[in-house]
Amino acid sequence: MLLRRSRRPGRLPGTRPGDRSSARRRAGAVVRLVAALALAGGAYGALAPSASAQDADRFSGAAAEGEALFDVGCITCHGRNGGGVEGRGPSLVGVGAASVEFQVGTGRMPLARQEAQAMRKPPQYSDEEIRQLAAYVQELGGGPVVPDTVGARADEADLARGGELYRINCSQCHAFGGGGGALSSGKYAPSLYPASERTIYAAMLSGPQNMPVFGDSQLTPEQKTDIIAYIQRVVQDDRGPGGFDLGRYGPSTEGLAIFLVGVVALVFASLWIAGKS
Ligand code: HEC
Ligand code: HEC
Repeated sequence: MLLRRSRRPGRLPGTRPGDRSSARRRAGAVVRLVAALALAGGAYGALAPSASAQDADRFSGAAAEGEALFDVGCITCHGRNGGGVEGRGPSLVGVGAASVEFQVGTGRMPLARQEAQAMRKPPQYSDEEIRQLAAYVQELGGGPVVPDTVGARADEADLARGGELYRINCSQCHAFGGGGGALSSGKYAPSLYPASERTIYAAMLSGPQNMPVFGDSQLTPEQKTDIIAYIQRVVQDDRGPGGFDLGRYGPSTEGLAIFLVGVVALVFASLWIAGKS
């Protein structure tokens, strides 16, 4: 009401009150309003993703390639748009590129058959294809990504700190020597010998199976780099000088075993000597 009253033609200087000019102005306002709405609608239509767009248009180049691979090799278990299939495979929305890089890069996926734990196998996809699958899953719902800079800072890594972090965070499952070990209900923590630096990083970010997730608030990227350096330069390099080892439970265990075996042997030897004389 207020607006209208203030627009009364009679109030405007230089105009004479009249129904016709007021009607003209009102018509002009309507035309302008319609034009503005049409413009806004057009701009929205051009910018916003339209619901009827083809699937392929939703994704960037690599992700679109990834979707094509996914629809052939993964969709039966992980469902359309990675939504998961009851009893066959979990949803991949939000697991991130890191999880795909880990799972497909170590050949665990595509899963060959249902088992307690996916086996490490030779990868069935090329590095390029793994990147594409990872890009697709990343665009489905975000999630952790292995940074491109992994390995760039390897020279600056602190091996001693890496070793300490490894013993605190990883050795209870993967053993001091990185040989891995059994967990409950037929599951196991695998050996770390074949893992590349990106695989180790991706495992920490995605926490497969019983492994905890080590996000950047649990272990900073620098601490992860230190752990990777320790695994690659100490654990993997030191995987066995040959001979018989005791599962590499560490120097004290192996020393204790030698001590016990040695003492028992000496006792028997002295008994044997005493018995002969
Ligand atoms: C035969 C069924 C099957 C096929 C085929 C399959 N998966 Fe899986 N996938 C599973 C199951 C079951 C799990 C969960 C088991 C596990 O975590 O070990 C899983 C887990 C995953 C995970 C980990 C999810 C998480 O929570 O971090 C990723 C990533 C994944 N699959 C990606 C793929 C991709 C990519 C393909 C295609 C190249 C694929 N899978 C093919 C059954 C399958
Ligand atoms: C609670 C036990 C547990 C802890 C703690 C743990 N992991 Fe694991 N880890 C696992 C399990 C289980 C798997 C196998 C997952 C699978 O097969 O899908 C695994 C797999 C891995 C792999 C993949 C090996 C390969 O190449 O096949 C790497 C690398 C790894 N872990 C690194 C680490 C590091 C580094 C830490 C410490 C920061 C750590 N893990 C802590 C249980 C654990």
